[in-house]
Amino acid sequence: MTTPSSDAFVFFGATGDLAYKKIFPALQAMTKRGELEMPVIGMGRSGWSVEKLRQRVHESLEHNGDIDEETFARLAARIQYVDGDYSEAATYEHLKKALGAAQRPLHYLAIPPSMFGTVVQGLARAGCAKNARVVVEKPFGRDLASAQALNRELHEVFDESAIFRIDHYLGKEAVQNLQYFRFANAFLDPIWNRHYVDNIQITMAEKFGVQGRGAFYEEVGAIRDVVQNHLLQVIALLAMDAPTGRDAEAMRAEKLRLFRAMRPLDPKEAVRGQFRGYLEEEGVAGDSKVETFAAVRLHIDTWRWAGVPFYIRTGKNLPITATEVKIGLKCPPLATFDDISPATANYFRFRLSPEVVISTGARVKRPGDEMHGEPVELIARHQTRGDQEPYERLLHDAIEGDTSLFTRDDAVEAAWRVIDPMLGDVPPPEQYEPGSWGPEAANRVISGTQGWHDPKPEETTPC
Ligand code: BG6
Repeated sequence: MTTPSSDAFVFFGATGDLAYKKIFPALQAMTKRGELEMPVIGMGRSGWSVEKLRQRVHESLEHNGDIDEETFARLAARIQYVDGDYSEAATYEHLKKALGAAQRPLHYLAIPPSMFGTVVQGLARAGCAKNARVVVEKPFGRDLASAQALNRELHEVFDESAIFRIDHYLGKEAVQNLQYFRFANAFLDPIWNRHYVDNIQITMAEKFGVQGRGAFYEEVGAIRDVVQNHLLQVIALLAMDAPTGRDAEAMRAEKLRLFRAMRPLDPKEAVRGQFRGYLEEEGVAGDSKVETFAAVRLHIDTWRWAGVPFYIRTGKNLPITATEVKIGLKCPPLATFDDISPATANYFRFRLSPEVVISTGARVKRPGDEMHGEPVELIARHQTRGDQEPYERLLHDAIEGDTSLFTRDDAVEAAWRVIDPMLGDVPPPEQYEPGSWGPEAANRVISGTQGWHDPKPEETTPC
């Protein structure tokens, strides 16, 4: 079914950090591709003028290092700005006027979730929600109960098909590649299960700290910030069954089945950490118990995955910035030549960031008289990045009404159900040194002999 494209782009939070870092560059790229031939209306509460907003867009593009003056001029000419309190009817009346003849606006809410209800009600009262779509930023709630409440607030005004819950990880080229690789290669299917897979690990490491976002981070912590969304989404793509159709709903249905089969996390199989120095960050409470590191073991109760541990690890101030998945395969049943341990057995490796790599770890004979081997990696795909940034891809999809890469209400709630046990009364975080791989205790989370797989700097020449 084809749905009509949106005909105006409205973004709440135009004066904020996310707009500066991600949205303006995406708008320039979309303008360049001819995908934004519509009014672009920034909404803010900072008393700005349209000139100030245009100037901010220019600064953002310069800062991002890829300003194209001709495209900027075209974008700037489309930009309007509406300033006002989001709880006042007059703000939406001004928006209505700015929309002019547009019939099907897309409203992008890059604002705290506590404001979602107020804004969607304001839109509805002013008649700006009719035939409209709404994109909402993460985090979608703080736990299962608040996510359910947010869903109710949104549903009072918008049908689920018009709600786009954004998770920029799903717009990454590498994550798309992972999904494609899984379901376009039949050779994977016979081994993609508990009979052949020993364990699955994902590490999302960041070499930097909270980068001045201490106050935001205090509200979330690593588990809410990236595990509930980005990392569970990647696990879902790795572990789900093939969708039974090509449409967005078929994909969403299989993902939901998988989320529902995830066992809620057990704090006894998890470790939270906090880097030394976090408490001195601006906006952070002196006695904060918020985690900047988490390592958890997850179980998926399906016939395909029963007994296969999924390990998730993430942290700020780790030795490298990289996100990597390793699917460790089982050892050969008998040692014909060398003894092979889980750490030296075959594997698949997916580097999701900053590079895009898919590789298989195999063993070959070392030259010489002896029948001894060594590990080699067969690189299936290696590129630095795609030509489309996640926000460009996702905002374009939302304008077109394509929900495939957005999270449905039931899936977001199912993901919170998995995370909820980690949000209550859990042991305090253990301290770790910046630049280390997190607290020593994280090694307790991983069973068996293979240990955590630490992503390394990627060699740039494909073999
Ligand atoms: C964001 C988190 O969603 O994702 C950040 O809020 C994190 O804390 C970021 O650094 C990582 O995304 P990317 O695409 O920069 O790897």
